[in-house]
Amino acid sequence: MKKVLIIHGPNLNMLGYRPKEHYGDLTLNQINQLISKENDSYFELEFFQSNSEGQIITKIQDSLDFYAIIINPAAYTHTSVGIRDALEIFKGIKIEVHLSCVDERDEFRKINYIRDVCDICFSGKKENSYLDAIKYLKKIK
Ligand code: DQA
Repeated sequence: MKKVLIIHGPNLNMLGYRPKEHYGDLTLNQINQLISKENDSYFELEFFQSNSEGQIITKIQDSLDFYAIIINPAAYTHTSVGIRDALEIFKGIKIEVHLSCVDERDEFRKINYIRDVCDICFSGKKENSYLDAIKYLKKIK
């Protein structure tokens, strides 16, 4: 079975306490459950959350044999050349995901180090952005 890694970046473990107008009502655990349901055993899923840039980079390096990575780099989207460079090494399918509409918020969120090393981006649909990423993978499988 093809393996898909889902990476959640910093502060996404605090969903439920973060502004609901941007990030929705669900906890990360609830989102992961919805992702698993949408996946419906198509892929072998691994979930990873970290607040640390280095741990995210190491996780990507350790997963080069995966079929795809779905990544919400959260705040590191706007700052991390390191995560960008790690994603560049990964040769599988790379999907950028955001709960909120990052391109239509604060100016600093328009800076994006990840976008052009990913194949596609789903954003602005809260938890459905992740589900769209899974649907996309199922469609192109
Ligand atoms: C986010 C958007 C980022 O700008 C922010 O720092 C996050 C979450 C999103 O999913 O909408 O933490 O990636």
